[in-house]
Amino acid sequence: MVFREKLPQGIVVTFNDVILLPGYTEVDPVEVDVRTRVSRNVWINVPIVSSPMDTVTEHELAIQLARLGGIGIVHRNLSTDEEVEMVRKVKEAPPYPVYTFCLDASQPARDALSAMRELAVDAIPVVEAGRPVGIVKKLDVLRNPDEPACKLSRRPVIATVDENPERLRRLMLENDVDIVVLVDSQGRYMGFVTVWALEYQRPFLPCLDSEGRLRVGAAISPFDKERALKLDKYADVLVLDVANAAHEKILTALKSIEKEITADLVVGNLGTYDSTIRVLTKLEKIDGVRVGIASGSICSTGVVTGVAAPTLWAVAQVADALHDQGIEIPVIADGGIKTPGDAVKAFAVGAWCVMLGRVLAQAHESPSPIIAVGEKKYKYYRGMASPGARQRRYAIDRYSRKVKDIYEGVEGLVPYAGPLENIVKEFVSGIQAAMGYIGARNIPECWEKAKLALVTVLGRKEIEPHSIRLEL
Ligand code: XMP
Repeated sequence: MVFREKLPQGIVVTFNDVILLPGYTEVDPVEVDVRTRVSRNVWINVPIVSSPMDTVTEHELAIQLARLGGIGIVHRNLSTDEEVEMVRKVKEAPPYPVYTFCLDASQPARDALSAMRELAVDAIPVVEAGRPVGIVKKLDVLRNPDEPACKLSRRPVIATVDENPERLRRLMLENDVDIVVLVDSQGRYMGFVTVWALEYQRPFLPCLDSEGRLRVGAAISPFDKERALKLDKYADVLVLDVANAAHEKILTALKSIEKEITADLVVGNLGTYDSTIRVLTKLEKIDGVRVGIASGSICSTGVVTGVAAPTLWAVAQVADALHDQGIEIPVIADGGIKTPGDAVKAFAVGAWCVMLGRVLAQAHESPSPIIAVGEKKYKYYRGMASPGARQRRYAIDRYSRKVKDIYEGVEGLVPYAGPLENIVKEFVSGIQAAMGYIGARNIPECWEKAKLALVTVLGRKEIEPHSIRLEL
């Protein structure tokens, strides 16, 4: 299979230039298996990787994304200790959502009702001086809404916060309760887990390491060995975070790191066949590649410098180079992926998974606060080579090398899209629908079966909603 031959020849095309052609299919979307790898040894259950950007991936998003089956890559616009701390937080987080709401023993029981409704549970923990003393049940609250919570409280089922999901499920069934109260090793209240939180893992199994902890990646600089070695103790994947990895100084610096790390090493970004071959010959350890230069929604590299390797085109180039060298490692398509269809177009030319920036910056769990402009809600999103991000980096990272005096990224607002769970569910369903049309049961079948064709500007308009007012 030569992936470059799937694309129109003699021109460089991007996601919007091509369409996926439907094929004969025996596959229903729900049957499509989207499991894949992000690097040689790291499996993910949904093919979504978050960009290491300071408006996309900190521990909160990484925790939730791993719970949903993908993997987050923590950004490096932080001190080494801060980045290590964020990675550790992901490793220490339970692989299911924990709610921290509780009633103080003296609070009226009625205060539990809205949380019960929202979380679809029949009980809420009661806490006194930081320790759980009981739970209040819905029927008791409805009968005696004005009583203090401690008067209605019943014996809670308690487990430590690191208890495994299977045992928690069993505890709920054996004790006929739909919440388990979680404490730390000192018996202090940490939150509670609901039967639904455990159940909702079903469509998306969490992305876990061999010890049952959530998986996480971390961005590294080739010039900061100390940081890479510290992160190596906790992260599953270290992701080189430079605009163009095919650079003599970068590869020389990386050589001294690659020998000493045990986590998988993803190298990028890469953009062309030839540069990939050069990089492969220089490095001994390479467990995955991050591909695409200047396609990102916040990138201005292409405009400022005129240099670009748009992601779709670049993926075909790099996947072919790896194939010709007999190297089978995951290809991560990175930059410009706006829709599930774009992701499947990337799979068509050899990608194993996609890295998303803007799509995930819109999530509730991304680092930016929600910004209200009139009636509408937004989140802040910026390129890592934008003025704001660069200023922060030079202030904290003594290893950043100021080798150019221009900005290659922009900053702005993106619409707030609510919980990550909804975004990921919708994105994965879209991927499954597209693969259903193609007749591909999984991503490797997509490499074989998916066909792309050039579409004209008018054709592109026709396949978008048209001839209707869309305000409703
Ligand atoms: P999307 O389109 O998902 O792209 O928002 C995210 C990817 O864009 C890259 N990135 C940048 N590229 N200047 C660039 O040229 C920047 O300031 C910048 N910041 C991020 C990166 O690969 C990311 O995953």
